[in-house]
Amino acid sequence: MSDHPQQSPAGPAATPRPVRVLSGIQPTGRFHWGNYFGAIRQYIELQTAGDAFYFIADLHALTTVREPERLRSLVHAAAVDLVALGLDPARATLFVQSDVPEVTELTWLLMTVCPMGLLERCHAYKDKKTRGLPADAGLFTYPVLMSADILAYDATVVPVGEDQVQHIEVCRDLAGTFNHLYGEVFTLPKPRLVESGARVPGTAGQKMSKSYDNTLDVFEDPAVQKKKIMRITTDSRPMEDPKNPDDDHLFALYALVAPEADRLVMADLYRRGGFGYGEVKKALVAAAADFFADSRRRRAELEADPARVEAILADGAARARRQAAAVLARARAACGLTRGGGTPAISRGKA
Ligand code: TRP
Repeated sequence: MSDHPQQSPAGPAATPRPVRVLSGIQPTGRFHWGNYFGAIRQYIELQTAGDAFYFIADLHALTTVREPERLRSLVHAAAVDLVALGLDPARATLFVQSDVPEVTELTWLLMTVCPMGLLERCHAYKDKKTRGLPADAGLFTYPVLMSADILAYDATVVPVGEDQVQHIEVCRDLAGTFNHLYGEVFTLPKPRLVESGARVPGTAGQKMSKSYDNTLDVFEDPAVQKKKIMRITTDSRPMEDPKNPDDDHLFALYALVAPEADRLVMADLYRRGGFGYGEVKKALVAAAADFFADSRRRRAELEADPARVEAILADGAARARRQAAAVLARARAACGLTRGGGTPAISRGKA
């Protein structure tokens, strides 16, 4: 693994970089509780930790979503949902990945320093390959685009789930190689693992995941969600038996959305026994409604005002492009793509 420029043998520590948080979110469908409690909530909390950049990864989504109308609406819906859930566009820069074309140019520069073997080891591609499925070059080079996403904004902290840590390592590797060849162009990022501190089980006990069809969606129709909750599988121990709340998935879901005091009362009820799971389910329905009530209200407002959402994204894109253009200009100059004094990338980026 390459060293951070600040720790390079070339000299003592330079001035520390300010914290810049960045993450990309795939617009592949409605967010469920696993996405929210496992990742998005932490991303949003980090908007106060420093300068934060969040984008909707539509270029990455192209490797799986092939219907243009669907992609367009997924991107818009993701923006609505993120703002409704508390991402503050006045504080953090929210934008759509493809609105910053500088990133795709940077992807090419990184591609030229990326060994094939590095990508062959990446799990998304490797998994497809071992299952004998065809993979396109978009999937194969996915980690290089992701590296450009990160390096284009001089990100220092990248909050991601466990499955993306490997890609941050690729990013650090490519940035290190580029810096080694051409000078200190890129800032090396660090992954920030967002462990769901919260265990988010699905409605039948295993991990919540779209592929198990066991999700509770954040902005689900309340009647549909209520039905799903009432059908959550439970064990068949007699009502009067005391139960351990800590190994019950119904309780785990309740604990995510209930206020602390109610959670303690419910835990007591489990330990005492003498209750039916139906009661817990009803309490879960009510707690979930309360927990997401403000977000639902904000979401309804945003849905009624699509122009406002597009204005947020346009503003975010302009801010993001300024950053990305500066980094791209640095990279172009370093590797010899500029002639004479001119760096056309700068003026183009600011246009
Ligand atoms: N690949 C990430 C995912 O599927 C999304 C993503 C794209 C991303 N570019 C990124 C995450 C840059 C962090 C940084 O979750």
